[in-house]
Amino acid sequence: MNHEKIEKSVGWLAILTAVAISFGGFVEIVPLMAEQAKMQPAPGMKTRTPLEVAGRDVYIREGCYNCHSQMVRSLAEEVLRYGPAGQASESIWDHPFQWGSKRTGPDLSRVGGRYSDDWHRIHLLNPRDVVPESNMPGYPWLAEQALDAEDVQAEMRALSRVGVPFSEADIASAPEAVAGKTKLDALIAFLQSLRAPVAPAAAPASTGDAS
Ligand code: HEC
Repeated sequence: MNHEKIEKSVGWLAILTAVAISFGGFVEIVPLMAEQAKMQPAPGMKTRTPLEVAGRDVYIREGCYNCHSQMVRSLAEEVLRYGPAGQASESIWDHPFQWGSKRTGPDLSRVGGRYSDDWHRIHLLNPRDVVPESNMPGYPWLAEQALDAEDVQAEMRALSRVGVPFSEADIASAPEAVAGKTKLDALIAFLQSLRAPVAPAAAPASTGDAS
């Protein structure tokens, strides 16, 4: 009976719906705030090089995320196909993160090192030259577009303002790092950088008194 009353009263329905949704949000969000590990960079994470920063920009500009995710779910078949499951702490320096929500193509978060630079070059110019059944579009114009060093530097500065720990030396090295490179070179460098972070090996245990 009560249920029927609530369903027929717009006011109560709105209030109780808001309470139910807030409770759901609370349960999902609050524990995350307390879990420090998810707010720290994953062990072994390195900041991107200037060329990789530029490549990530091309990735976003060209909308690659519309067909590719960058997040391996913790399901056996995903881990077997792609590699270690993604952790929130891996994306802490990604503004915005590229998890994506659509997989017309495969997940890319572990694609680094899977193919050679030359394979990527051919694939990005015309995917069907290496994967005949591919329905991925080609991006031939990227090979003709030069990078703008000032843009890359400005972007690194902006990212460091929101917490990406680039050093002044990293930022200063940008013009030299992207000189003579095309947007295609940058995109390939970015794709090759997509790997699971490798935690540094623990220091070897002391073998005893050396004196
Ligand atoms: C319309 C959807 C679509 C878009 C947009 C798209 N891709 Fe793809 N991509 C695919 C499909 C489908 C495949 C699988 C077939 C193949 O390898 O070409 C693929 C495969 C790939 C692979 C090989 C992955 C692997 O593990 O074999 C890479 C790398 C890749 N895409 C990068 C990109 C980049 C970078 C962009 C943006 C410049 C992009 N894709 C845009 C659909 C897309």
